Amino acid sequence: MGKYKEEKNAVEKQIWDLAEIHSCLNVLDIGIGNNPNSIIKLIELGANVTAIDIELKKVEQNKHLDARLIHADVTKLPFQGKEFDLSVLFFILHEISDKDHSKVIEELFRVSDKVMLVEPVPDGGELYLEYYSIFQGVMDSIGKIEKYRALSYWTKLFNKPNIKLQHSETFKFEDKLIDTEAEEYFNDLIEYITTLNVPEKYISDFKKLKSEVVKNGMTFSDINVIIAETC
Ligand SMILES: C[S@@+](CC[C@H](N)C(=O)[O-])C[C@H]1O[C@@H](n2cnc3c(N)ncnc32)[C@H](O)[C@@H]1O
Repeated sequence: MGKYKEEKNAVEKQIWDLAEIHSCLNVLDIGIGNNPNSIIKLIELGANVTAIDIELKKVEQNKHLDARLIHADVTKLPFQGKEFDLSVLFFILHEISDKDHSKVIEELFRVSDKVMLVEPVPDGGELYLEYYSIFQGVMDSIGKIEKYRALSYWTKLFNKPNIKLQHSETFKFEDKLIDTEAEEYFNDLIEYITTLNVPEKYISDFKKLKSEVVKNGMTFSDINVIIAETC
């Protein structure tokens, strides 16, 4: 395993440890994604997992997972009351319009006692900022959003009556994605982006960035984490 992947795994372990997942915990995971990382991790940690996604395809592609998967929108959750101990927003809110963020937090506290949010940070080195900018172009070209926020934005979002912040921290990355590890990362990324039928420009922008990163290395985004609960 390369240094970047090793550090990523170590940072994610610290983040999941904060959530104190154990068997018997009912967890709602928002947004399944293409690689359902958070669902797989939650199952591995022993939780009873329910996950939702606004895209039916994402639900159907992941039926083999040992979780209850539901086609739903996080702004209108199909649950009556407090059915969950914890709700998880693992790399989700940057794909959802700012105007809906407050509603999402309200909905999650309507159905759970505790919420964990994990999001990338909007700043970093020159190559990372280029990566972020190409990604924003890709998402924009298919009518989607990709917008990262500082920790202060998320802290403010959780500043509501009867909600207490339990943890609020930015996890830092030191090691660079470089050499063969960067090559593999960008090859997978370019393969995925190609399936989205985006303008060719973005594929060639990522190919150019790949050569730079393979040669010089890129430090990935730090990660913002908030854990809050009702009081
Ligand atoms: C970056 S991916 C998910 C990442 C995933 N949690 C993981 O561990 O890799 C974001 C997902 O959120 C879903 N999503 C976007 N808006 C949503 C909404 N309003 N309600 C539910 N899911 C939504 C997208 O369809 C996408 O599958």
